[in-house]
Amino acid sequence: MTDPAFRQFTRRQLTLAMACAAVAPGLALGAAGKPVPSLGQALGPRLPFGMAVTPAQMASSDAALVQHHASIIVAENAMKPSELSPRAEGQYSFEVADAMVNKALELGLKVRGHTLIWHQQTPPWMFLENGQTVSRATLIERMRRYITDVVTHFKGRVYAWDVVNEAFCFGEANVKTDAEGMRMSPWREIIGPEFIDIAFEAASAADPNALLFYNDYETQNADKVKAVSRMVRQLKGRGIKIDGIGHQSHMTVTHPRLSEVEASLIAYAELGVTQQITELDIALNADLTKNQVPRATPRLLALQAQRYADMFRLFLKHRDKLSAVVVWGVDDRQSWLNYWPMRRFEAPLLLDRQQQPKPAFWAVLEVAKAAKTAP
Ligand code: G3I
Repeated sequence: MTDPAFRQFTRRQLTLAMACAAVAPGLALGAAGKPVPSLGQALGPRLPFGMAVTPAQMASSDAALVQHHASIIVAENAMKPSELSPRAEGQYSFEVADAMVNKALELGLKVRGHTLIWHQQTPPWMFLENGQTVSRATLIERMRRYITDVVTHFKGRVYAWDVVNEAFCFGEANVKTDAEGMRMSPWREIIGPEFIDIAFEAASAADPNALLFYNDYETQNADKVKAVSRMVRQLKGRGIKIDGIGHQSHMTVTHPRLSEVEASLIAYAELGVTQQITELDIALNADLTKNQVPRATPRLLALQAQRYADMFRLFLKHRDKLSAVVVWGVDDRQSWLNYWPMRRFEAPLLLDRQQQPKPAFWAVLEVAKAAKTAP
């Protein structure tokens, strides 16, 4: 027992780890056959920890691994409009998502809903009417109906929804925006900027108890801080319920700067909303869009561990502002970064392809334990 993390294991954690290992071989046992501590337990209620999952994972032995570490799940894809209503208005395919959500609830996990209104993974029928672009009135009616039906269907089972995803965009070539930096998505083009108001109103009417989030990437970008803050203030000024800001947090070993992330957490906190880290991963490619890392070298894994530790230290420091940290996937094999923006090697998560803890995992665990004992 040379690993200090292992030495501080309590009898309760050990029993739990052993029980999990019995359910899924290898699950709670590290490469050296030692039990792997639960990251969620180490972070504790001060910073609820979650993982993005697939329905197949929740139907497999991976569910026990997720339950071991996390208290929250979010569907990586299974609850997007293209999955829930692929064919036509008013027609839904809830079976797969229902099975996943119900399994999570049985395991005592909370479920984030991702996502209601986005410019991607929305079925083609949404924006078409008799082969033409849908009219504004019809699109508003369809949007209200979709949100109402989906939020009502999951009412009481999904505790938080990403209502609108990625509505703003700054400094990206080939992305058209309006003067406020709002992305000219079909929602914005056809309805106008008020599509955001309509979406939040419909979601809160369907489930007044669900937490409603605006979710985006690069939320530390100064232009985005300004635009998103203005939007939140406007929504609140009009009496529309918005509870939180979701920071996707798709990071790399060098980007973004810690100081920028901290400044943005502080700035958003002034809006009187909660914040969640909703899709955290830290790519080994310093530029997320490049393919420059053929494998995970010890040097890169150490750099990644340092970054994860720095970020979690920051999140714990600002835990009064944050109500969850969710990583975007269970293990490196599953990560979307292996196939976006091209097929390549990536390893951005805390567990490796064999679901074994990486240096980043142990680094975060140490940070969590240190925060527990701190005054
Ligand atoms: O479902 C098909 C499957 O039938 C087919 O065999 C396979 C072949 O490639 O493709 C499957 O669809 C893929 C889907 O993921 C499910 O794996 C799509 O091609 C692929 O584009 C899709 O990517 C998802 C991406 O959103 C789409 O924009 C990623 O998994 C998912 O991680 C990613 O998640 C987004 C968040 O929702 C919002 N924030 C950014 C984040 C990363 O892009």
